[in-house]
Amino acid sequence: MAKLIAGNWKMFKGPVETLAFFDGFEAPDGVDVVLCPPYVSLEAAVGEEWPIYAQNVHWADEGAFTGEISARMLVELGVEGTLVGHSERRLYFGETDETVRLRAEAALAAGLGVIACVGETEAEREAGETEAVLTRQVAVLPRHEALVIAYEPVWAIGTGKTATPDMAQDAHALIKSLHETRVLYGGSVKPENAIELLGRPDVDGALVGGASLDAASFSSLCRIAASLS
Ligand code: 13P
Repeated sequence: MAKLIAGNWKMFKGPVETLAFFDGFEAPDGVDVVLCPPYVSLEAAVGEEWPIYAQNVHWADEGAFTGEISARMLVELGVEGTLVGHSERRLYFGETDETVRLRAEAALAAGLGVIACVGETEAEREAGETEAVLTRQVAVLPRHEALVIAYEPVWAIGTGKTATPDMAQDAHALIKSLHETRVLYGGSVKPENAIELLGRPDVDGALVGGASLDAASFSSLCRIAASLS
């Protein structure tokens, strides 16, 4: 099966920078690519040839929820899926396992693909709680063929610290024993460490933050993934 490389742009790139990225981005056959721009850049991005996912979605169809976006609105725009449960949402915006479940279910019901993020904090890993945390976070996720899980150890996000390929492999094997799905690794993935990480048997792809912002480095990651598929 082809590896899946997803770029999460977080709060970077308005519509103008989004179009400039696509001018410089290319990916070969043999890799599945997804890009997750901020809401305001989704419309510019869906005109391009790659599947576009949002970074979050609300569970209601509509309503008095200031600042939120529904799955139906994303579908109307031509968006094909969404992230849910990113650790930055959990850490800064009060996201819980329960709201992650609600968001994932609403997105799937609307026909969107879902990349659901799980991962332990540094304190949880040091306390030996990684397995318990991942088990708890994965337990709430719906069983659905359009749902993919991203394992993103919180201590490896944007820090330059990467899980060793063995740590990633162990976590992915655990997640796959709990939920039959593709599992992506996320946390400081870049062209320099991608071969080792993506080469492990249960690492089905990557969710990439910083290195997805630059068209050349994201193209390079996609080429590496295609060569391993
Ligand atoms: P970095 O690749 O910048 O560490 O971000 C990872 C991430 O959070 C992707 O969702």
